[in-house]
Amino acid sequence: MKTLLVGYKAADLKAKMLEGDVTCHVLDIYHRHAIEKVWHAKCICTPHLPAGDWDLVKFRTGPKIMSGELSLDLLQEVYALKPGKIELDFVGKERDRNSLLEKIKSDPERVRSFRAQWPASVPGGEKLMFSSYPGCFCHRRLDEGGLALAEIVTRELSASAVPLSILDMGCGSGLVGFLIASYLTAKNTPPSKLVLVDSHSRAVEAAQENAEKFSIPAEVILSDNGTPQRMDGSFDVFVGNPPYYSDYRIAEVFLETARRALKEGGVCYSVCKNAAGLEPVQKRYFPEVEIIPRRGYAVLKSVKRQSFIQDGKKGC
Ligand SMILES: C[S@@+](CC[C@H](N)C(=O)[O-])C[C@H]1O[C@@H](n2cnc3c(N)ncnc32)[C@H](O)[C@@H]1O
Repeated sequence: MKTLLVGYKAADLKAKMLEGDVTCHVLDIYHRHAIEKVWHAKCICTPHLPAGDWDLVKFRTGPKIMSGELSLDLLQEVYALKPGKIELDFVGKERDRNSLLEKIKSDPERVRSFRAQWPASVPGGEKLMFSSYPGCFCHRRLDEGGLALAEIVTRELSASAVPLSILDMGCGSGLVGFLIASYLTAKNTPPSKLVLVDSHSRAVEAAQENAEKFSIPAEVILSDNGTPQRMDGSFDVFVGNPPYYSDYRIAEVFLETARRALKEGGVCYSVCKNAAGLEPVQKRYFPEVEIIPRRGYAVLKSVKRQSFIQDGKKGC
């Protein structure tokens, strides 16, 4: 009996559910690592459900678990797999469960596209049409914080006459990295290297698609740990619009990565709604933080200094 579990996190799993030939599917590599830490389970992280002769697909969903659009998108993929049996583990009201199932059962063969396209530009730059998918951060629209970050960084780099190496961490569909790269390319100083990193497989898929569409050479990496082996002190610029839902724990991973990835004199730019919260975190990794307000957000700018000593430890 081959079973595929979709939408389950480490805390949702029970030993009994993992008996037999069971594969867990997740969209975010963080959840894969969290499952593998606790369970001996086969786990895969891909933007779409894996093909296979599944006897059973169990799909955990509900309004508190994922957006309605992602739920319908994944349910559509579950039906397309044509497994022996489908079980919906719905967390929420019966009415919402029925309405979700109705959308599929009324026309199970219909394949809806949930891809969205939306424009974004920075002053003096070209308008780019970004693609995104359900599950991507800010699907269907741009994030004002990300745009504020791209606007400040392009303004700051506008005088640079040399090609720069740029790292965009938590890239989502690539809003910040591609706006900056497109602006610099139009000025005849395209980045010497552009690397985008995200932990979500659908963000990586969208960013790869956008890189091709905009003809911007870029490497897009799926990672939740800042890929230490790749962050080798060779970058001139780091940009990051981290999520803030984990009491700055993820922002800390971003800033630690920035510190490691930047060369001496390299510049780290982060963005947040409330500078008072992020500033002390950024100061653990960089000696000075300049706060630049934009669009109701704060862009925090720091320069890497090799000699920086904090808490008795030399910055790495
Ligand atoms: C606030 S969104 C910013 C997206 C994009 N840069 C923008 O400005 O629109 C944060 C992004 O960080 C990603 N993320 C969360 N934790 C991460 C981690 N540990 N490593 C890499 N990316 C992460 C999320 O998947 C999400 O795409």
